[in-house]
Amino acid sequence: MTKIGSIDLAPPFALAPMAGMTDTAFRRLVKRRGGCGLVVTEMVSSEGLVRGGDRTLEYAEYTEEERPVSIQIFGGDPARMAAAARIVEGMGADIVDVNMGCPVHKIARHSAGCSLMREPAHAAEVVRAMVQAVSIPVTVKMRAGWDATAINAPDLAKRIEDAGAAAVTVHGRTAAQSYSGFSDWELIGEVASGVRIPVFGSGDCVEPQQMIDRLRDTPVRGVLVGRGALRNPWIFSQAAALAQGRAPGEVSLEERGQFLLEYVDLLLQEQTQEADGFRHVAPGQAPTAPAPARGRERWVINKLRALNSWYTKGLDNGSHLRVAINTAESIPQLRDVIRDFFVTRERPSPACA
Ligand SMILES: Cc1cc2nc3c(=O)[nH]c(=O)nc-3n(C[C@H](O)[C@H](O)[C@H](O)COP(=O)(O)O)c2cc1C
Repeated sequence: MTKIGSIDLAPPFALAPMAGMTDTAFRRLVKRRGGCGLVVTEMVSSEGLVRGGDRTLEYAEYTEEERPVSIQIFGGDPARMAAAARIVEGMGADIVDVNMGCPVHKIARHSAGCSLMREPAHAAEVVRAMVQAVSIPVTVKMRAGWDATAINAPDLAKRIEDAGAAAVTVHGRTAAQSYSGFSDWELIGEVASGVRIPVFGSGDCVEPQQMIDRLRDTPVRGVLVGRGALRNPWIFSQAAALAQGRAPGEVSLEERGQFLLEYVDLLLQEQTQEADGFRHVAPGQAPTAPAPARGRERWVINKLRALNSWYTKGLDNGSHLRVAINTAESIPQLRDVIRDFFVTRERPSPACA
């Protein structure tokens, strides 16, 4: 059994943090399909948390059914990161994760995200300050290094372990690579062999069998799946079936359509609950003012557009669905487009029945 601190990960497959994508609604839908042992929130600004910004708190929201849940924060100042970790602990999260992998200039220029990999001593100081501030496990998600001339994940993982981190995830690309090339699982294995804390691997698992293979063939203790889960949220339950020697279930078109319809419903509910003042908020924070109805619809439509750029990849006529969703202007239209594409197409027409 893989554990992070005292938290059991059963099974050791996790939904990777993905900014703009892995919101609480998406995470719940993935959990409901089974096989996912841990979910990680989108990255949340430590500054925003400490200042109590409403938008920031939204990113850190989660529900009980998502547990165990890890809240990922980014920042570069040890004291502020420690203060943010205390807020995360106060929100009841199971784990606080530090982003040391984001290559985006806006984040990396502030000695945060993957920039921390260029200052390993400072990165360890950030972790040490957080570990001293909270009793929940502190984990780190890093890349292979900053660029091909500075691959330092094995060294940084040791420093982070010495600083008290409970686990490390490595996405085996450099910041300079962004998403080009492939994740270097040999390097990830090297990191895993060099420390005692559990190491999780991330990168390029898009089929359930690949998750099983990585777990079996490399010394990692778990696997994170990002883009593969945006295309196929059933990937975790399919991998869990394979791990138990069962054939992974086929997902019907109707089920795929149902997933999107449920996503729309959950996103709308979330907005309504927010309007009613219900959500996980940090102590002393007031809930945000309700979004106007039109703004809410637009927000939900934009979320569906973002997910569909991944979800429709590889689907027959997926580009038609993308275009149709991109032109939907209201929630009823959006639901019709989804039903037309998935649910209607699933039933055989009388002519061929
Ligand atoms: C749209 C998108 C957003 C991401 N946001 C984050 C993030 O907020 N924090 C983080 O640590 N990694 C983030 N990542 C990286 C993923 O967690 C993961 O490590 C990477 O995509 C490689 O795994 P994959 O091939 O399974 O997608 C993001 C990736 C994508 C595609």
